[in-house]
Amino acid sequence: METPDKPRLDAALAAIAAADAEALEAQRVAALGKAGWITLALKTLGAMTPEQRLVEGPRIQGMRAAVADAITARAAVLDAAALDARLASEVLDLTLPAPEAPRGSVHPVSQVMDELAEIFADLGFAVATGPEIEDDWHNFTALNMAETHPARAMHDTFYFPDVDAEGRPASNSEAVGRQGRMLLRTHTSPVQIRAMVQKGAPLRIIAPGRVYRSDSDATHTPMFHQVEGLVIDEGIHLGHLKWTLETFLKAFFERDDIVLRLRPSYFPFTEPSVEVDVGWQDVGGRRVLGGDGDAPGHGWMELLGSGMVNRRVIEFAGLDPDRWQGFAFGVGVDRLAMLKYGMDDLRAFFDGDGRWLAHYGFTAFDQPTLSAGVGSKETGIRA
Ligand code: PHE
Repeated sequence: METPDKPRLDAALAAIAAADAEALEAQRVAALGKAGWITLALKTLGAMTPEQRLVEGPRIQGMRAAVADAITARAAVLDAAALDARLASEVLDLTLPAPEAPRGSVHPVSQVMDELAEIFADLGFAVATGPEIEDDWHNFTALNMAETHPARAMHDTFYFPDVDAEGRPASNSEAVGRQGRMLLRTHTSPVQIRAMVQKGAPLRIIAPGRVYRSDSDATHTPMFHQVEGLVIDEGIHLGHLKWTLETFLKAFFERDDIVLRLRPSYFPFTEPSVEVDVGWQDVGGRRVLGGDGDAPGHGWMELLGSGMVNRRVIEFAGLDPDRWQGFAFGVGVDRLAMLKYGMDDLRAFFDGDGRWLAHYGFTAFDQPTLSAGVGSKETGIRA
């Protein structure tokens, strides 16, 4: 039936059919909103006679339904189109190669420390640590190096000032006189003292960490790494030391033909002291560890310092030296890494050069285990 609303309805339906999301909402408000023309038309029903209402009611409701249905249908079309557009833009080609992502690698020093921990854990050693900012007593005095001991001069120690730049007492000055001046530890040996004082005896520890000496050239850097070893128990003798070092070095270099030579030496904190050399052989112009260093074409290289813990040191640490004996050793971690993995300049260890790391670094998956081998790369040293 032709009514005054018919052109308006036709116009609305045509606009809805062509609307985008924004226009569609405008059409909904114009027709069905609080003040929309269909809403207002519905409100006129109340004032009508029952006869009028019988005709007008279904007509107006029919318009309302027609507009509402058209809006729903148009919204569905728009939603589908939006989804298609999104899917088209978010296409993921699973056949493409993975993009080049920056990857970190494990520094050889960290790798070697992990290897050492793995090897010594198997021998019943725990890992101990101590502060890099150490006091004079732990670094020297308790290790049997009194204030005037000449061995102190060999350490090129970095001392902290007792007073700051303005002449005020430095924060660490309280310790001066009791534990002595503060310094950067020159070796990991003070951890021997700390471990004995804290844990008592018996004791089996290794202590890897940073040490500092005022020294710098191709084979010396002001900061480098050592690992200390300490065993304290009853009846410990030099044979235990030799067996432990031999077992450690064979596992570390992954060679059964590692031969050690023990030479008498001197450290204030060990008595007797032994310097340990390891035999090498010439393989096609390249020095490779292994074999008796005295054989023709072979040689010895100095590797580490060690000895039986001086009874004075055991006393300083508060233990009874008549009951407890022990051995200790200290070795450069950077040096172990250079020997095992073939780097020739120690300074490169601390340059932070990504190319060096890419060449010598390890992936996080190179976890040292005794069963799979504690290091995956070739063993040997450069001639
Ligand atoms: N602390 C010594 C050094 O730095 C090494 C060492 C450790 C020697 C333990 C003997 C025993 O040279």
